[in-house]
Amino acid sequence: MKTKITELFGIEHPIIQGGMHYVGFAELAAAVSNAGGLGIITGLTQKTPDDLAAEIERCKTMTDKPFGVNITILPMVNTPDYPGYLKAIIEGGVRIVETAGRSPELFMEALKAHGVKVIHKCTSVKHALKAQKIGCDAVSADGFECGGHPGEDDIPNFILLPRVKEELDIPFVASGGIGTGSQLVASLALGAEGINMGTRFLATREAPVHDNVKQAIVNATELDTRLIMRNLTNTERVMRNKAVDELVELEKERGDQITFEEVAPFVVAKYKDIMQEGEMDSGAWSCGMVAGLIHDIPTCQELIDRIMGEAHTIIKNQLATL
Ligand SMILES: Cc1cc2nc3c(=O)[nH]c(=O)nc-3n(C[C@H](O)[C@H](O)[C@H](O)COP(=O)(O)O)c2cc1C
Repeated sequence: MKTKITELFGIEHPIIQGGMHYVGFAELAAAVSNAGGLGIITGLTQKTPDDLAAEIERCKTMTDKPFGVNITILPMVNTPDYPGYLKAIIEGGVRIVETAGRSPELFMEALKAHGVKVIHKCTSVKHALKAQKIGCDAVSADGFECGGHPGEDDIPNFILLPRVKEELDIPFVASGGIGTGSQLVASLALGAEGINMGTRFLATREAPVHDNVKQAIVNATELDTRLIMRNLTNTERVMRNKAVDELVELEKERGDQITFEEVAPFVVAKYKDIMQEGEMDSGAWSCGMVAGLIHDIPTCQELIDRIMGEAHTIIKNQLATL
């Protein structure tokens, strides 16, 4: 399947693995890229730019296919050394960057000067247009269904994708709520040039996380995510658990009065315990509604082959005969 996205990134299948904190290590990025998709290392999971440089080198020993690095620009307790991370990416020879959160405007000059292709993940038409204006090569349109930060507009992909198609000239992929070949076909029909998946790739054999995380996704249904931090205008879709139930109660009680300091014990520095130690109730972790469609833990190759096979069958056998 050739699309503008496979051409832009030099990949076989129009499938991207979105950056995921404490998940997007070299093992997963390389597995996705080796399976013909685009794997992405999560830049800020690496504590320092030197650590990121080492992770990029490690990934190169595992794949000779293209892979990217995610740089997330969200409100954080300590501002990361962004120039240092950019230097590690550029000097490491990485030619694809996924940015997310705030506008990557300040990074564009350096990235473009070194021929780096930039795909910006955003949750609204307005931000997609801004990404196009500042020179991004593509956009990941992240619908309300998504795991992680869906923004504050609550527009699901059935509306967001055709709206982005109406307005945008650069190519875009559909992101959020996707895990099957039928959804790839639907995304293409709505104007996208491919898909980006987070939660679905988290439940794969190569995802370097504790088995408890993968089992939690398999056991969950589409009803098991919750939105937190709405009143802080930093909404995050997370898997429901004991800590999240407590936080949701606290948020109900405190309403507009809630402060980040009150939320922090539930969300700050929890990922390592959850993803690596499997302590599932210790805090909030991003997870999408697509958990309801995830029933197994395949390899990345099996998953990508399954999605592409299903998509081809639907296009050729079902749709072509209508
Ligand atoms: C556990 C987890 C951690 C994530 N961490 C990040 C991150 O650090 N930066 C980022 O840009 N997106 C992050 N995301 C969002 C994904 O890259 C992707 O956009 C999202 O998962 C798509 O929705 P889906 O989960 O429904 O596929 C995360 C998602 C998950 C599930």
